[in-house]
Amino acid sequence: MKPKQVLITRAIPEAATDLLKTRFQVEVSPHDRPLTRKELSKRVRGKAGVLCILNDRIDADVMDAAGPQCRIFANYAVGYNNIDVQAASERGIVITNTPGALDHATADLAWALLFAAARRIAEADRFMRSGQFKGWAPMLYLGQDITGQTLGVIGAGRIGSTFARKGRAFDMTILYTDTKRNPELESVCGAQYADLETLLKRSDFVSLHVPLLASTRHLIGTPELALMKSTAVLINTSRGPVVDEAALVQALKSGAIRSAGLDVFEEEPRLHPELPALQNVVLAPHIGSATHATRKHMGLIAARNILRVLNGEPPETCVNPEVLES
Ligand code: GLV
Ligand code: GLV
Repeated sequence: MKPKQVLITRAIPEAATDLLKTRFQVEVSPHDRPLTRKELSKRVRGKAGVLCILNDRIDADVMDAAGPQCRIFANYAVGYNNIDVQAASERGIVITNTPGALDHATADLAWALLFAAARRIAEADRFMRSGQFKGWAPMLYLGQDITGQTLGVIGAGRIGSTFARKGRAFDMTILYTDTKRNPELESVCGAQYADLETLLKRSDFVSLHVPLLASTRHLIGTPELALMKSTAVLINTSRGPVVDEAALVQALKSGAIRSAGLDVFEEEPRLHPELPALQNVVLAPHIGSATHATRKHMGLIAARNILRVLNGEPPETCVNPEVLES
């Protein structure tokens, strides 16, 4: 019997590719960029499984282009807003993601952005490189305290609660908001549940950890930024459209909030044209999960999910488990 065919839409760490090659005929995109719509539709044709990345829009057209033998799209990400899950379920296609693998890496990056924004590290680095340092000075790059301040965590799922727990090490008061309460988080770090408005008003640092849904698009816009302290710092490592980027630029310019740290953007890879010129924002290129170990782990989860589904077994993680029951 001819081995089943699997597509990997962009090169990922080798361990995952090697694992898939033990059982399938594996095609890896040769391009050092996301596939275009046309390339994606062409390359998925005839594949039994596809390991895709968050830049690939996986909709009904792509699923139909793949053909009826296609059983699984394994997203190399925890977020799956790039996939039309309903269209997949209608076609009996399994959708998987990589929850858990990247909780610490993403939470750590949120902390890195928080520290960088609060203590003005990126600005100070630019200052040093441009040869402007003339020695210690009493007023040079004054920033904000972190220890003992109030941390506001929006979205207390796996990543948000991992981020929140680390706040304990800095003796922070931890507030969180979510659609439901998280009793475990409350008991492990004394986090207090608050509604969004209270959280925004009271927090010195606000960090976003919600998935992108219709209900979270522009969750933070002009009215929410206006509720925040003028000394507050906003961190976003979730999805760009959770923040109204134009409103944020305005708030950073007017001093409505002090600074921001962003790993995700509303229309990646495009930046709002005024962002690069603002000193009080730290910018990172969507690297929340970008550690060697985490990316390897994510690849292996995706690869094992493909192996299992194509072998008639349930995957380790699944976004649309109703498909497994049919
Ligand atoms: C990254 O952004 C992910 O969702 O894994
Ligand atoms: C979000 O994807 C989470 O797991 O917290």
